[in-house]
Amino acid sequence: MVKTKTILLLFFFNILILHSLSISTDTFLYGGCTQERYTATSPYEFNLNSLLTSLVNSATYSSYNNFTIIASNPNDVVYGLYQCRGDLSMPDCASCVSKAVSRAGDICPAACGGAVQLEGCYVKYDNAKFLGVEDKTVILKKCGPSIGYDPGTRDAVLSGLVGSGGYFRVGGSGQLKGMVQCSGDLSFVECQDCVSDAIRRLRIDCPAADYGDMFLAKCYARYSTGGGGGAHAYYKPHGKSDNDGQKTFAIIIGLLAGVAILIIFLAFLRRICEGHGK
Ligand SMILES: *[C@@H]1O[C@H](CO)[C@@H](O)[C@H](O)[C@H]1NC(C)=O
Repeated sequence: MVKTKTILLLFFFNILILHSLSISTDTFLYGGCTQERYTATSPYEFNLNSLLTSLVNSATYSSYNNFTIIASNPNDVVYGLYQCRGDLSMPDCASCVSKAVSRAGDICPAACGGAVQLEGCYVKYDNAKFLGVEDKTVILKKCGPSIGYDPGTRDAVLSGLVGSGGYFRVGGSGQLKGMVQCSGDLSFVECQDCVSDAIRRLRIDCPAADYGDMFLAKCYARYSTGGGGGAHAYYKPHGKSDNDGQKTFAIIIGLLAGVAILIIFLAFLRRICEGHGK
């Protein structure tokens, strides 16, 4: 009976590993909270919870939305928005926003404001009004290792992204992929201005880098020169270095667990057969 338990455990272990492979848009990129705190069971807490519920519900049918919970006391007003990456399906958007909201709750307990960027979505809420306000503050900058290539092709791809339209843009040639995303509360002109700034910074700050991520407060631009190729290259612009390694590791562990299950199962069967043979 101990063996049956082991088999079951290994089986669930395998399922867990395979399941974790499919999660990529939930990868945490950054998060932050305001210093300002609210007290438990206050009207602010109530309004914030209602705002967060609205965000999560709305993400089942729209890739961007904003909400304001109005209150007579200005200290109890809550503003919030979420923005899913333009290529996410609605179910993926909803699942991403719900994970971002719970992540914000973990890292910002009782903070009046919080913001979380996952690979596939962004969520922000605050007592201060930030909706519709352009903000080009650099929040996260990551440059890959310098691989000493001529950045001409990369710059051409990045320029192409400035030139095209929409709040979500992808471009590239061959292994080189670029992507930009604006927050839906910006006007098109503001989006354009924000994207140009993010790309200008990528060019200056990540010269000849393997990949670059430039997250400003209301838009981001990312590129990858290598990646694993295929679809994942712009889902995870710097996916090659860590994610593919993790994937390979997970697959190997999964296979080993599978083989272990088989061996134990065969040993178990043999035990039963031998038992009957006596
Ligand atoms: C917020 O949402 C409302 C209603 O959906 C919309 O009319 C408005 O333009 C949005 N505001 C911003 C700043 O995105």
